[in-house]
Amino acid sequence: MKTIFSGIQPSGTLTIGNYLGAMKHFVDLQDENNCYFCIVDEHAITVPQDRLKLRENIRSLAALYLASGIDSDKSTLFIQSEVSAHTQLGWMMQSISYIGELERMTQFKDKTNGKEAVSSSLLTYPPLMAADILLYSTDIVPVGDDQKQHLELTRNLAQRFNNKFNDIFTIPEVSIPEVGARIMSLQEPTKKMSKSDVNVKASIFMLDDEKKIEKKIKSAVTDSEGIVTFDKENKPGISNLLTIHAICTGQSIKQLVERYDGKGYGEFKQDTADAVIKTLKPIQDRYYQLVESQELDDILDKGAEKANFAATKMLVKAKKAMGLGRVKKKK
Ligand code: TYM
Repeated sequence: MKTIFSGIQPSGTLTIGNYLGAMKHFVDLQDENNCYFCIVDEHAITVPQDRLKLRENIRSLAALYLASGIDSDKSTLFIQSEVSAHTQLGWMMQSISYIGELERMTQFKDKTNGKEAVSSSLLTYPPLMAADILLYSTDIVPVGDDQKQHLELTRNLAQRFNNKFNDIFTIPEVSIPEVGARIMSLQEPTKKMSKSDVNVKASIFMLDDEKKIEKKIKSAVTDSEGIVTFDKENKPGISNLLTIHAICTGQSIKQLVERYDGKGYGEFKQDTADAVIKTLKPIQDRYYQLVESQELDDILDKGAEKANFAATKMLVKAKKAMGLGRVKKKK
């Protein structure tokens, strides 16, 4: 049995990118492993958030995890800020991180590009992410492609800590899906689909209704060739829709290319929209039952308790390894 950890930021409504690249895979892992899934609200405040909206997004994300199939009897679902060991170990990981390596993170560069007021936590975000993972002796971290660099840094920081202080951290492996690790924007298919994209037509949100999904997919940017084939470089729009269609229906891209041979984009787009709707509809139905329920609070309470228990144990070890605190004198 392996230990799995992953987190999602409650920084807006999740997109189908978050689902197909990450969340969907979490569900498959929980039968055979010891899984921790986290709502990383402390990561979300690295950019300004409206407090009421943040609260709403935290609850909404918790309900989406469960609606997507996370089972609280099998997995530990919890909110990062309810387990204070995360920021405590995060600070310790910061103290062994170098500014140069943090400045090299592409997400930091993208998020700060052209901005005047950049919070320092945007720079120190990866050591907190490392803490999230290392607290649970995580073996595997399932994520989308955009988190690969953060995972490499996590591994480096864990090794650095182990060499310098004491060999306490497990070096985690990253797990990135073969198909769907980077779902692209529907409007600019060379750019990643993102929950913070200002153009709402660029993303399918997990709570979009049928009409919206259909409209967004039908107006997705493609090309004028009219041939359904997979070619990321020359046909990024169609390749992206093929990827989405393939994961939603469980068919391979090759099967889909054969099926739509000689057919136009109209039929292909309609079927892609239907496949997405069919995937999201049952999740949405469960979501609306859960989001305002007391059951959700009970699950998050139980999750925080279990996560606190495991995380505190590791935090004590890490503090001891670094020489923090004191050893009490015997009376
Ligand atoms: P976040 O909230 O941006 O995204 C959550 C998960 O969704 C994946 N993802 C995508 N996958 C495919 N296509 C896309 N367009 C797409 N957009 C997002 C992300 O790769 C991620 O797996 N730093 C993390 C949160 C985090 C975390 C952690 C993750 C904090 N601590 C510890 C793993 C382990 C983030 O911002 O994810």
